[in-house]
Amino acid sequence: MERVRLFAACAGLLFSCCYANYGSWMNLGMQGLDVWRNPQIYVVGTSPLCGRISGLSPGQRKLCQLRQDHMGSVGRGARAGIAECQHQFRNSRWNCSTVDDSSVFGPVLQIPSREAAFAHSIAAAGVVMSVSRACRDGQLASCGCSRSARPADLDPEWTWGGCGDNIQYGYRFAKAFVDVREKERKRKKGSVKHGRSVMNLHNNEAGRRSVINLTKVNCKCHGVSGSCSTVTCWQRLPAFREVGDLLKDKYDGATEVQVTRRGRLRVRYRGYKRPTANDLVYIQESPDYCRKNTTVGSSGTTGRACDRTSPGTDGCGLLCCGRGYNTQHTTVSERCSCKFIWCCKVQCKTCVRRRVLHTCK
Ligand SMILES: *[C@@H]1O[C@H](CO)[C@@H](O)[C@H](O)[C@H]1NC(C)=O
Ligand SMILES: *[C@@H]1O[C@H](CO)[C@@H](O)[C@H](O)[C@H]1NC(C)=O
Ligand SMILES: *[C@@H]1O[C@H](CO)[C@@H](O)[C@H](O)[C@H]1NC(C)=O
Repeated sequence: MERVRLFAACAGLLFSCCYANYGSWMNLGMQGLDVWRNPQIYVVGTSPLCGRISGLSPGQRKLCQLRQDHMGSVGRGARAGIAECQHQFRNSRWNCSTVDDSSVFGPVLQIPSREAAFAHSIAAAGVVMSVSRACRDGQLASCGCSRSARPADLDPEWTWGGCGDNIQYGYRFAKAFVDVREKERKRKKGSVKHGRSVMNLHNNEAGRRSVINLTKVNCKCHGVSGSCSTVTCWQRLPAFREVGDLLKDKYDGATEVQVTRRGRLRVRYRGYKRPTANDLVYIQESPDYCRKNTTVGSSGTTGRACDRTSPGTDGCGLLCCGRGYNTQHTTVSERCSCKFIWCCKVQCKTCVRRRVLHTCK
């Protein structure tokens, strides 16, 4: 009996020790973001803010101290990345839900899966976006408008200037901040952890590149009454949705790899294309996410709404993993058959619509 209890206590300790190691920098996106706008209010005594945010690695803490004014942007980037992940995966078994601790996504992303690849890439992309925009908006001391070179194919009559999103700076800062945690601990070459670091670095880079790849040129006319006598153009970020869509495609086409002792990626199965720096890679097949499993960190799909007729991932067949679904009939009242009556009234009827809701067993 005593031994059992002792064992349980040790297991608990082990769990809390190691789980804490998996704190993620994305936790910055879960914190109230206002703290960074007015840090002096929140710093009590001598404990500086950067030291009190959990999830940062030692190198990230240092960068936080050095560039404290960037941290609000990093947090916004992480938050946008998480929101975009939840949008892209809203119809999948794993729906990118977060948990209430500094690991942000819970133990599920400890598996070097496709989902982990996507989450890392979208968060890295989020930081590129938010820092680039903050530079343009003059919110950061160490950067300003973009100084990127004039695109070669721009009409020679047009002016290259204006204040563009500073994607060069955003890329560099995101790389330094997000990647440092994968580099600061010497991992034994060929170990599982070394492989995971290589995977994360690759996917972070793919995320950052997807932003660069979708960068646009924006132009505006100037001149008396729209005569457009001069045109000014500048560099502009894509919409985050575009980045999310691109990375979701890359998730669907992600490559399973092994990491060699020298830190190179080797395609797992013959005949597959070598992944480029733009592609996502993963090391292990995903669990099926069908049932609740706290060890793996899967919340399961019981209770999820599904589409009875869809053959896709949102269909009851796939989403409910063959367990079947419950059907609930509800009614909703809404305004309908509205008519415009001259003048000026809108007259509607009230219709009662039946709604059928299917949820996974
Ligand atoms: C994800 O699905 C779970 C049920 O499995 C649900 O509780 C949760 O709210 C969902 N999260 C999001 C972000 O949709
Ligand atoms: C953009 O992505 C495409 C397809 O993934 C790739 O062929 C191209 O080289 C990329 N362009 C840049 C500038 O990275
Ligand atoms: C959770 O998943 C792990 C790994 O796949 C498995 O070994 C374990 O039996 C599962 N636990 C439950 C309660 O299903």
